[in-house]
Amino acid sequence: MRQGLGGRVRRLRLAALPAIFVFLASCAANAPQDTLDPDGPIANKQNNLFLFVMAIAAVVFVLVQGLLIATVVRHRHRPGRPDPVQVHGNTKLEFGWTVVPALLLVGVAFPTVFTIFDIAKEPKKNVLPIEVYGHLWWWEYRYPTLGNLTTANELHIPINTDIRLDLHSIEPGLPAPKGADFAAGVIHSFWVPKLAGKQDVVPGRVNKLTLRAEKPDQEYDGQCAEYCNLSHANMRLKVFTHTQEGFDKWVADQSKPITPPTGGDAAAGFELFKGRGTCIACHTLGGVEGAVARVGPNLTHLMSRETFAGATFPITTQNLHDWIQDPSAMKPMRPEKGTGMPKVPLSETQINQIVAFLETLK
Ligand code: CUA
Repeated sequence: MRQGLGGRVRRLRLAALPAIFVFLASCAANAPQDTLDPDGPIANKQNNLFLFVMAIAAVVFVLVQGLLIATVVRHRHRPGRPDPVQVHGNTKLEFGWTVVPALLLVGVAFPTVFTIFDIAKEPKKNVLPIEVYGHLWWWEYRYPTLGNLTTANELHIPINTDIRLDLHSIEPGLPAPKGADFAAGVIHSFWVPKLAGKQDVVPGRVNKLTLRAEKPDQEYDGQCAEYCNLSHANMRLKVFTHTQEGFDKWVADQSKPITPPTGGDAAAGFELFKGRGTCIACHTLGGVEGAVARVGPNLTHLMSRETFAGATFPITTQNLHDWIQDPSAMKPMRPEKGTGMPKVPLSETQINQIVAFLETLK
């Protein structure tokens, strides 16, 4: 059936829609997780490699598509026109389009392999090791050389230092197999696009990743980049950069134990935290006897963070209240299977008292 011109134009327009959509989707005024806008030497190396390969690919694309279109247009069928010259089996051509791509691949392979080895190199001088633990669905950070200082979701680092991350996946909320400290978790991927490429976080092994930042007082967004079930999308993270002095101050503040509240709602909340609220079964509070669990985030300096629950929600009185009231209503989790925070039966007054206590954890 022949189509009228109008029908053809309509179909063309329809076909262009997905292309326009994809093109527009790449436009963002504020793109905090843009790999093409790196902000550190490691992310820079990765971006440079990408741009180099992309440039070669673009030249090849334009050349091949240009020749294809030119051939199709030039040799299109017209009544009475003879067949064009047949080149099937032409040795020179066959040789040419085998050798040229092979050379291009070699040209791409050298910088690729060198960059991979360069980035994977274990840094030797001026290194800060940090252990990263992927949990369902949040991040735990431990600084083994700084008295095992522990925090969650928001990573703080000094600038001009190679941050060497040991990436683990564990699930302390699940029963540990014989001989192991913790149950193995699932595969996550640690990704802060402006500082470095992603690295898988695999149960049962320790993957390494080096980060390096050069600008102080920055905040970088990141997220888990490997599908890890229910709340994968809510497993976000942040990185804050400091000058060395700023970082030392942060470490000193974070290393302090809590100051137990002496009266009012906060004191009542502290008692609930240790008792009826059962919070102590999962969360660590520095300086509080028995509060050492790693099932949920260390809350010693909760209020020094901007966000909670996998860097998903801003820390506000209302959000903390709603979270304690019914965590799974805010973020899909499966506490009945041992993953995620359970809903503890508490009265409105008790919830407010616990929030009052949490807000003293500066
Ligand atoms: Cu953790 Cu996706």
